[in-house]
Amino acid sequence: MTMINVDEGKYAITIQAMKKNEDEPSAMANFLSESAIIKNQEGSLSLIITLLDAKTITGFQVENQAGEQIHAFDKQLDEEANTRDETFEIDQLTTSIVARVQYEATYQGQKIQGDEEIRLIFDEESLEKMN
Ligand code: HEM
Repeated sequence: MTMINVDEGKYAITIQAMKKNEDEPSAMANFLSESAIIKNQEGSLSLIITLLDAKTITGFQVENQAGEQIHAFDKQLDEEANTRDETFEIDQLTTSIVARVQYEATYQGQKIQGDEEIRLIFDEESLEKMN
């Protein structure tokens, strides 16, 4: 895990949801937009992710460097698209951040609830300034 330095501004970055303890894509991968936004403004760093199935993904948190779970301070639901943008204030951007997801799904007629940990992998090479 290495730090990704972010200058002032707004950037697009490619992310991937991986299993927490294995180098394999997580079951969450299809429920998360590959494109995230990082903003470094007025001394604070924020991460905006897009959850692709707002009804299924009921909760999402990211871990800070101290291992505490951070909840989004802003959530924007797009009811028509069934997506939800969540904004987190993060202490630093690293190539790998632990996250936690809660989900609800129907499987063979039964309601399934999950609460699982994953890793968000940030591709430093993809960091691209936005306007
Ligand atoms: C069709 C209904 C689903 C069933 C029956 C199901 C079942 C399971 C089971 C049995 C595990 C292993 C956990 C363990 O044994 O401790 C698991 C892991 C996991 N599930 Fe689900 N799940 C379903 C849907 C989903 C959905 C919609 C998501 C989207 C977020 C998801 C995300 C995860 C994650 C992140 C893990 C941890 C392993 C990984 O990262 O792939 N699951 N699930």
